[in-house]
Amino acid sequence: MTDILTLRRPDDWHVHLRDGETMRAVVPHTARRFARAVVMPNLKPPVTTTALAGEYRRRILDAVPTGMTFEPLMTLYLTDNMPPDEIDRAKAAGYVIGCKLYPAGATTNSDSGVTDIARIDRVLARMAELDLVLQIHGEVTEEHVDVFEREQRFIDTVLAPLIVRHPRLRVVFEHITTRAAVEFVRDARAGVAATITPQHLLFNRNEIFRGGIRPHFYCLPILKTETDRDALVAAATGGDPRFFLGTDSAPHARHTKENACGCAGMYSAHAGLELYVEAFERAGALERLEGFAAHYGADFYRLPRNTETVTLRRREWRPPLTYAFGGAELVPMFAGEPLRWSLEGDE
Ligand code: DOR
Ligand code: ZN
Repeated sequence: MTDILTLRRPDDWHVHLRDGETMRAVVPHTARRFARAVVMPNLKPPVTTTALAGEYRRRILDAVPTGMTFEPLMTLYLTDNMPPDEIDRAKAAGYVIGCKLYPAGATTNSDSGVTDIARIDRVLARMAELDLVLQIHGEVTEEHVDVFEREQRFIDTVLAPLIVRHPRLRVVFEHITTRAAVEFVRDARAGVAATITPQHLLFNRNEIFRGGIRPHFYCLPILKTETDRDALVAAATGGDPRFFLGTDSAPHARHTKENACGCAGMYSAHAGLELYVEAFERAGALERLEGFAAHYGADFYRLPRNTETVTLRRREWRPPLTYAFGGAELVPMFAGEPLRWSLEGDE
């Protein structure tokens, strides 16, 4: 049995870092593990311009502890009103890697999102021309659609036609949660990929209701069935470069999750690599982790692979019950529960 695992240093292709004091609480966790991360723009107010993204990037860099290297890759938040020349500014800036599509109302801070994809057609065309990547939260928002079926419905009604209408646009279907999404991405044209979170590899929807309602397992897209989880594990561990790591670590203060109307999002950055090691080991596929965590995302985004390495040791640890989170508390994934692998240097 292997007890030491050395990998090329990974990247997180989807993370929420928030802002201000709460950002300063979480950035060290991400920077400790990942060389780069694609930073989501759903702040209040959202990061809709290159100038705002530049300022936000500076604040993130200021929060990186001395001695750590970390590069935030910025995204712009698409709205119905984004002017196409904002895409030119984003490309020229160099630090913006793509634009995030939130269907309006789909999730946390998505109220200013896109109400109808036809409204951003010119923006998408310009993104394809300049090769900025489109990151998609793939769920329809119609109230009458079952919450467990919103991803599948999005594939059929929005995503499939979109990649035909914009054949050169490169698209990441973020945090996929269903077998249907796995199959869609596997069969799609070149230039379509997906990220997969640790929670969707490790849990199915029963976890939300095990022994009572458990708000720390509520995220969007919501956890799905065991059949879906199986398909996600097969995709992540199968060595297919279309699937790569994106934690979707989404911190919320404890009292906003343990609430009559709790927020969506699970915090995983404190164990952002270790949770995937757990999932890959359970699947007997540790040798496939490096591709998923450190190669395929960089290749898709046309960035160099990192050159440094990280080492993990088989040594059990338990994440704390809470972290400080700007005057509040943050409950991490696997709080107080054993994880089998720890990062070297954390002993
Ligand atoms: O669970 C989620 N939380 N899903 C998202 O899409 C957004 C995220 C957040 O920002 O909290
Ligand atoms: Zn997200």
